[in-house]
Amino acid sequence: MTYASSKTKESRVTQSGEILFEDVSKTFESEEVPAVDSVSLQVAAGDLVVFLGPSGSGKTTLLKMVNRLYEPTSGKIWIGNEDIQRLPINDLRRQIGYVIQQVGLFPHMTVKKNISVVPRLLDWEKDQIQSRVAMLLDLTGLPEAYLERYPNQLSGGEQQRVGLARALAADPDILLMDEPFAALDAINRERLQKELLKLHCKLNKTILFVTHDVEEALLLADKIAVLRDGKLVQYDTPIDLVTRPVNSFIEELVGTNNILRRLSLVSIKSVVKAQARESSEKIADSQVSETVTTIHLEEDLRSALSLLLSSGSDYLRVVDSSGIQQGQIGMEDLRKMLSSNQLIEKKKCDELSD
Ligand SMILES: Nc1ncnc2c1ncn2[C@@H]1O[C@H](COP(=O)(O)OP(=O)(O)O)[C@@H](O)[C@H]1O
Ligand SMILES: [Mg+2]
Repeated sequence: MTYASSKTKESRVTQSGEILFEDVSKTFESEEVPAVDSVSLQVAAGDLVVFLGPSGSGKTTLLKMVNRLYEPTSGKIWIGNEDIQRLPINDLRRQIGYVIQQVGLFPHMTVKKNISVVPRLLDWEKDQIQSRVAMLLDLTGLPEAYLERYPNQLSGGEQQRVGLARALAADPDILLMDEPFAALDAINRERLQKELLKLHCKLNKTILFVTHDVEEALLLADKIAVLRDGKLVQYDTPIDLVTRPVNSFIEELVGTNNILRRLSLVSIKSVVKAQARESSEKIADSQVSETVTTIHLEEDLRSALSLLLSSGSDYLRVVDSSGIQQGQIGMEDLRKMLSSNQLIEKKKCDELSD
């Protein structure tokens, strides 16, 4: 045993949903410059990591190397303890669900057949398939009546839900999603983004999600990997990207100077917690009495600003879901948040109510 001296991948990577990119490059045969250039990146099991970057920056290429639709020119990718290069490709793909923009449903198959295609390939029992399909339908918010419909009898958003259900069918540890919502209208896109967040919180899968849409990345990600010309520019949490960009490219991309964006990344809850940690006399100081406008603990500071401006109140009463006051928030708190860089938990699972 030589753990101490040689900290190899085998001893470091343990969880099944963890993904490690180790100096991964890909140059297509016809091309001179690499599409992906020496990317090293560790994705924790259960995290939702977004690959963000302009068109042609290598996002899709990087993603497709995880299920070996493309093979790296050099470098390695590990899933848990496995070098994926050494895995039989079917074993690899069984642990990975894949969702793309064009959905790729089989047009001649019903929704039920589409969702169950992988379990049927894996020879699951009929009962088991049936209950799995019912569960997935429920999970992705599709009515049971849709089971016998064909893809062309569904809207774009509904088709994307079926695509997601199909990707989840064999209960993979990992989901790869390549601009899955890009073709949807704004309302459906937002709805599906929220549902994906809920699903991620519930299922605890490792998700790699490609997008060129900054808002989508900031909303969904635990961490964002920003790519440019095939290179990894920064890999950080949304709040760190926005407040601590490594260069002007990131600064412009994520809108570091966009105050509303910064506010939207901070939850009221985290401010109330921070206030509680501060000296108690300060809280006693402030005039709790006259504040009638309320805001929910699970909103963000951008909503607080909007409410402060529209109500004309000096303070908002912060209430929890039972309507009980948990604190208060005023303009001064917003200013403080913007000037300090001590931010802040991301709005995620605990703040997604039905
Ligand atoms: N199959 C391919 N053959 C040759 N070049 C490709 C292929 N796929 C992608 N590329 C090139 O690799 C670069 C990265 O592409 P891609 O990964 O699709 O970017 P993104 O998903 O960020 O838009 C681009 O310059 C693209 O033209
Ligand atoms: Mg792409």
